[in-house]
Amino acid sequence: MGGVVISGTGSFLPEQVITNSDLEMMVDTSDEWITARTGIKERRICPRGMASSDMGAEASRRACADAGISPSEVDFIICATVTPDNFFPSTACIIQSKLGIKNIPVFDISAACSGFIYGLEIGKNLLSSGVYKTGLVVASECMSRVTDYTDRAICVLLGDGSGAAVIKPSEEEGIMGSYLSADGSYGDLLNLPAGGSLNPASFDTVEKRMHFMKMEGAALFKVAIRAMSESVNKVIERFNLKKNDIAIVIPHQANLRIINGVAKDLGMPADKFYVNIEKYGNMSAACIPIALDEASKKGLIKKGDLIVTVAFGGGLTWGANLIRWTK
Ligand code: UT7
Repeated sequence: MGGVVISGTGSFLPEQVITNSDLEMMVDTSDEWITARTGIKERRICPRGMASSDMGAEASRRACADAGISPSEVDFIICATVTPDNFFPSTACIIQSKLGIKNIPVFDISAACSGFIYGLEIGKNLLSSGVYKTGLVVASECMSRVTDYTDRAICVLLGDGSGAAVIKPSEEEGIMGSYLSADGSYGDLLNLPAGGSLNPASFDTVEKRMHFMKMEGAALFKVAIRAMSESVNKVIERFNLKKNDIAIVIPHQANLRIINGVAKDLGMPADKFYVNIEKYGNMSAACIPIALDEASKKGLIKKGDLIVTVAFGGGLTWGANLIRWTK
């Protein structure tokens, strides 16, 4: 049995930009505070009528083109999202339809910001079964739809976007392994309280702004650094590697201070961590595949390089993938 490689990546970002000065006109904040506390300067916002599936379908087309395949060759789709178009059908089903593919298994996973990392591991295992030849893992998030633009502690952080990867069985070993974890007892630190079976939509839930994401920022900050450092350590220890063996880390982009904190905790140079948070903010599960696509297209990743992706998010969930770049 050989391995599973990433054979193509693609991403899509909506055109509309919201800058820190735009936000200064909406809430009591400043470019200085946002830049110093988060590293974010701009974020992208989906226009009305565009949904997670539209961005996901476009990122998927671009990943297929990069892999040199037609979407019709895809044998399964895994979509990571916490901002699905609807509860059901799944966003993966809608993306499948937009790509014009029929009769393959497709499903969504809900692991918040760690969704793409979970998706790659699930996809690798589906391909390892020998039943499928080509998988598509896509992460797509319209975070602006669950953002309260009257809450300065949250609205400065979030943005919209989508990223995708085509994965294939190969003689080479690309996705070497993953470390996945979660602790549901931290669920209240980051959640969307209403709209589900516990608090279905009502006048009351709307009035109390319960359809917007809620977050305990300072508490999350500490758990994030610990969980991300642990994930990198676990995944590289499993393969008896040293931190020096890693060419580039693709971290979840929640806060530049968290990324720098993880680098410091691990004793790794901060410049090994790919950062694009200044342009897009936190796009939940979409951050990692977008960053991977950008780093690859910029020529920052060479064939043979070892990459670690690492994230944490709502759930809480966290994890890392260890990938050898084979493109
Ligand atoms: O994808 C995973 C999900 N999210 C995260 O990982 C987020 C993790 N947490 C963070 O990134 C940081 O905790 C935040 C960026 C959210 C906040 O930064 P902080 O340094 O932890 O600030 P804080 O919450 O301790 O607030 C410090 C002060 C407070 O004012 P007082 O009480 O000291 O007077 C806040 O009210 O900053 C105030 N503040 C703001 N001021 C200007 C909070 N948000 C803003 C704002 N502009 N946008």
